[in-house]
Amino acid sequence: MTIQWFPGHMTRARRQIQDKLKLIDVAIELLDARLPLSSRNPMIDEILLNKPRLIVLNKSDLADPAVTKEWMDYFKKEGHAVLMADATTGHGVKDISVKARELLKEKIDRQIAKGIRPRPVRALIVGIPNVGKSTLINKLAGRSIALTGDRPGVTKGQQWIKVGTDMELLDTPGILWPKFEDQNVGYRLAVTGAIKEEILNVEDIAFFAIQYLSRYYWPKLQERFDLQEKPLDPEDPDQVVAVMEAIGRKRGCIVSGGKVDLAKASGMMLRELRAGKLGGFSMESPY
Ligand code: G4P
Repeated sequence: MTIQWFPGHMTRARRQIQDKLKLIDVAIELLDARLPLSSRNPMIDEILLNKPRLIVLNKSDLADPAVTKEWMDYFKKEGHAVLMADATTGHGVKDISVKARELLKEKIDRQIAKGIRPRPVRALIVGIPNVGKSTLINKLAGRSIALTGDRPGVTKGQQWIKVGTDMELLDTPGILWPKFEDQNVGYRLAVTGAIKEEILNVEDIAFFAIQYLSRYYWPKLQERFDLQEKPLDPEDPDQVVAVMEAIGRKRGCIVSGGKVDLAKASGMMLRELRAGKLGGFSMESPY
């Protein structure tokens, strides 16, 4: 799902999340492990205020494991509780309720000391579109939850989903907007599929991806598409386009006259990249 965000949407989204915050003990901030900064809402600290927060680096199966480890260390150093997960297979998902309880340990211990039996921890998942909120909710619930209200401005009654005996989750996530100021953020999001190709041109997205991959993941790109020559200067557009053409020829994207159909080649390359066919890659690193 891609939402066109306008100032009115943002205000409404923020208000909706802040209403939900009153109901919960802990917020689960979902980020895309491949680009934890670009998939992060710029106002998240102001929105969540002092609510205990657990950061989950989702889609870790698609990211570069070494870089994800750096991000885990980075967020820990920043004083955050952080986990990595793959919401589709459920890897790491079980740790979420354990970690959420750890965050509330002092409060829970106080209740126990007073003889009060602690109730399940109440949680809300927040994140920008496409980070895997619905997938994670379904995984935690152990069934498919119909997210009819999963749009800014559409409200419905809140439902609590039981996650084991220790956690309850609001069934509708908090939807946040990504950063817009930086054009590179838009391209990074588009490479991972978070921004659809109707918004940014597919060839431009593929160009950005190839430039980046040539610089940091050339062996993966080379192996997948059986490429010969590494572009010596990824800043040189002609060299990048030459790689796009080589990919197009490899995938048979040829139009009459033997020219490469760059739009088709771009779409194919991006689909393979997003599906993890080149292996794990990360679009940004903390250091
Ligand atoms: P959202 O609610 O935050 O908007 O995201 P949603 O759960 O709809 O997930 C977006 C896409 O990401 C889905 O793919 C989903 O299967 C995939 N996804 C979610 N979590 C993970 C993960 O941990 N690993 C991997 N590999 N994929 C994950 P989709 O149905 O194909 O949608 P789309 O790509 O066509 O938008």
